[in-house]
Amino acid sequence: MSEKTTISVIKADIGSLAGHHMVHPDTMAAAAKVLAEAKSKGILTDYYITHVGDDLELIMTHRKGVDASEVHETAWNAFKEAARVAKELGLYAAGQDLLTDAFSGNVRGLGPSAAEMEFVERPSEPVIVFMADKTEPGAFNLPLFRVFADPFNTAGLVIDPKIHDGFKFEVYDVIAGKYVVLNSPEEMYDLLALIGTPGRFVIRRIFRKSDNEIGAVVAVERLNLIAGQYVGKDDPVAIVRAQSGFPAVGEVIEAFAFPHLVAGWMRGSHFGPLMPVGQRNARCTRFDGPPRVVALGFQIKNGRLIGPADLFDDPAFDETRRLAQTVAEYMRRHGPFMPHRLGPEEMEYTTLPQVLQKLQDRFTEAKLYQVKGPKVKTELLE
Ligand code: F6R
Ligand code: MG
Ligand code: MG
Repeated sequence: MSEKTTISVIKADIGSLAGHHMVHPDTMAAAAKVLAEAKSKGILTDYYITHVGDDLELIMTHRKGVDASEVHETAWNAFKEAARVAKELGLYAAGQDLLTDAFSGNVRGLGPSAAEMEFVERPSEPVIVFMADKTEPGAFNLPLFRVFADPFNTAGLVIDPKIHDGFKFEVYDVIAGKYVVLNSPEEMYDLLALIGTPGRFVIRRIFRKSDNEIGAVVAVERLNLIAGQYVGKDDPVAIVRAQSGFPAVGEVIEAFAFPHLVAGWMRGSHFGPLMPVGQRNARCTRFDGPPRVVALGFQIKNGRLIGPADLFDDPAFDETRRLAQTVAEYMRRHGPFMPHRLGPEEMEYTTLPQVLQKLQDRFTEAKLYQVKGPKVKTELLE
């Protein structure tokens, strides 16, 4: 039993109402029963259950540390129960993210995604949980960079002595299965060189440089890579600590005032704007989107989750949402053309191999002009 508090946010798509639109309340109730029992047994200190689009989100606090098998097993059982109800109700894609029947100590690699961090609580501990639907973990790269490394977003980086030294970014290469830690501001350009490719290089954790205190964590599971074939977008979650020694809550959510383009949306195969919304609008509609993100603010006291505050449910984000609508409309007009549609290597659904195979006998050799040799000269290839 640790003196530290752990917050674990574990999510899965266990089936949803009206296609991939939203989680059904009965499945949330089924999950809540499992978590209530775990709380009564002392496995969890506290919990809060919610959904964003078709993803069931379990926000849990406990004293068992990161990757604790009892906590992961509790989450797994909650998803199983929720999926059982989803199947009874005939909900769409019931059980989608539960890739196996056998739990083996940790939900990672079995379908659900997890973001967890452990810390000694400060006298007052504000924490923000971000949950997104219809996008991928790298969607948090841009806003987290801005929160922890960009002084034009976070005034504290310039004027607060407690964060003036900057932060360290742990960046995962989710294709090669490696990670690297980069210091900001010194290595900011190297950091940007990597995280500007969000489908491959993903910010996983951020630490305060002066004392290594954890500031943020992102669930970096890529379900499509785990499953070996695409079985859904990896709708990510993130946890960020705020205030006194970290960016202020307002600085953290400021980074989401720009609805940047992220991969996901319809069929996990389109770029669209990430729209910050309140909990009541956490349901995907137009073209199964646009991709959405919710921010719930909590105070954590002796492991108790006080709150939440629904941080994007505010007119201050209306202009962001309006811009997101304009961008959504602009992107949609491209129909099946890139760059609205993702490149072939990133698409969830593709008919391209079948189309190419079908047409292979009808393709005729073409004469192409091509630059040859060191000199810039073209010649006709015959
Ligand atoms: C994207 C997503 C949806 C589905 C789409 C088709 O992550 O979940 O956009 O890809 O609704 O779903 P199926 O193939 O189940 O009919
Ligand atoms: Mg779904
Ligand atoms: Mg989803």
